Amino acid sequence: MKVIVTENYEEMSKKAAEIVIGIVKNNPKAVLGLATGSSPIGMYQNMIKDHKENGTSYKDVHTVNLDEYVGLTADHDQSYAYFMRANLFNGLDIDLKNTNLPCGAASDLQAECDRYNALLENYKQDVQVLGLGSNGHIGFNEPDTPFASVTHLVDLTENTIKDNSRLFASIDEVPRQALSMGVKNIMNAKSIVMVVSGKNKAAAVKGMVKGEVTPALPASVLQLHPFVTVVCDKDAASLL
Ligand code: F6R
Repeated sequence: MKVIVTENYEEMSKKAAEIVIGIVKNNPKAVLGLATGSSPIGMYQNMIKDHKENGTSYKDVHTVNLDEYVGLTADHDQSYAYFMRANLFNGLDIDLKNTNLPCGAASDLQAECDRYNALLENYKQDVQVLGLGSNGHIGFNEPDTPFASVTHLVDLTENTIKDNSRLFASIDEVPRQALSMGVKNIMNAKSIVMVVSGKNKAAAVKGMVKGEVTPALPASVLQLHPFVTVVCDKDAASLL
């Protein structure tokens, strides 16, 4: 696991974007595994800037997102489908038909998980972008999720509901469930880039990089992947 420590969020975002842009330049048909949340927003802004200034094209790129809240349709402004259009896709020349997320509004959630797992067989991520939960989750794989897990229905922990409530009008509006790629789907990626910032992530970063590999801290599984780059700011790296 390669760890790059940056001065701040802006530098973290720039470095991580450079890695992903390099992958797309090298392979214009790359499959990008993408994440939502606060951590990758700056990185996505850098990708849009590069697309506009340098013309890096995403027209043949495919994307697969990590997760989606259950019960929210793609036009709900808190859905991850909406987030991806607002924060990345609308600023690129990507064909929205080539972008994929699990559908949290599906009537049969297990069938939706099965569909997504089959899709991931065909779209193996050249790079998977990850954020890190303060409890060590990756995607919505909460502590004690088996490493062999594939896309599944998740009951979000109180910790995650609380962390994510900052983006909703009230904590009661945060969905209690999500569909998430499993740990195995994430580990299947050819390479992984994680962006982490802030002191509240420092303990999880330490456990992920230096701790025991254990489902109790899902991100620790990344120690077993051959091509992981963690780009974190000084605060997130403060316990290393
Ligand atoms: C988002 C996701 C989550 C977040 C994590 C960190 O698609 O899968 O694992 O990456 O909760 O969220 P932020 O970046 O908002 O701190």
